[in-house]
Amino acid sequence: MATRGRTRRGDGAGLGPRLKGKVAFITGAGRGMGREGALLFAGHGAKIVVADIDRAAAAETVALIKEEGGVALATIGDVAAEADVKRMIAEGVRAFGALHILYNNAGVLWKDRDRSVTETEEASWDRVIAINLKSVFLVAKHGIPHLRKAGGGSIINVGSVSALAGFTRAQDAYTSAKGALISLTKSLAIQFAKDGIRCNIIHPGIVDTPMQAPHLTAALRREFEASIPLGRIAHPREIACAALFLASEESSFMTGAELVVDGGFTAQ
Ligand SMILES: NC(=O)c1ccc[n+]([C@@H]2O[C@H](COP(=O)([O-])OP(=O)(O)OC[C@H]3O[C@@H](n4cnc5c(N)ncnc54)[C@H](O)[C@@H]3O)[C@@H](O)[C@H]2O)c1
Repeated sequence: MATRGRTRRGDGAGLGPRLKGKVAFITGAGRGMGREGALLFAGHGAKIVVADIDRAAAAETVALIKEEGGVALATIGDVAAEADVKRMIAEGVRAFGALHILYNNAGVLWKDRDRSVTETEEASWDRVIAINLKSVFLVAKHGIPHLRKAGGGSIINVGSVSALAGFTRAQDAYTSAKGALISLTKSLAIQFAKDGIRCNIIHPGIVDTPMQAPHLTAALRREFEASIPLGRIAHPREIACAALFLASEESSFMTGAELVVDGGFTAQ
């Protein structure tokens, strides 16, 4: 569910718009954390390229942004397909003239098909890795030339606490993809620092989004809540706020960093 408004605690309201004049390309912005990020970034003055495979969801995010007076464009495609990514980035640049922020948020968690290595089909493994990892390669490949042209920018990748620890409920392809994103984040950070391009990764804990909804039985929610020091799962806006920080100049000396936003889960 989208949450509207710009005054939610933690989003920096009152300190002035952080992303005025910027253009942000956000994958998976049709729902969940991507939509929250899109609304928050738009509220802070960025023009948003809403990139998603789900046309109706992307259109709804654009409508929500416009309702709040923001500027956004929907572009539809599969983040795991190079031709689609190339086209989606080109559509964004054509509409808004530049690109400053690449927010690699799209991801899939397919608990029914992505399980332990002993129980996972090769096709499921390949598709999960493609959507969660190859997508970031493709967006970086086709987006970085535009960030360079703009004189710099910020790349935000989305990992997961599942990349930081093993879990008995295995989702090995997802975990591997998110783990590899840490290495890719550091590699991009080092390579493109000279171009004024920063690249960081956020590791969310459990977040209340449509991705988790089908799995979150009342019993499982209680189990998760009991395992998190802050005693609850996250609201998507709490991850979007971390992304806003990484997108903005307030994080100007951060690159190659991992930002864990998990209610203390991995600090235990
Ligand atoms: N929800 C959590 O608890 C949680 C925890 C840690 C990390 N994450 C990560 O955060 C990110 C956002 O997760 P969310 O919970 O908001 O997910 P979500 O499922 O609610 O939303 C994901 C969005 O990505 C889009 N998408 C999926 N496959 C795509 C493809 N091939 N091409 C283009 N778009 C595609 C979907 O249509 C959807 O709009 C993901 O990378 C996820 O792995 C989520």
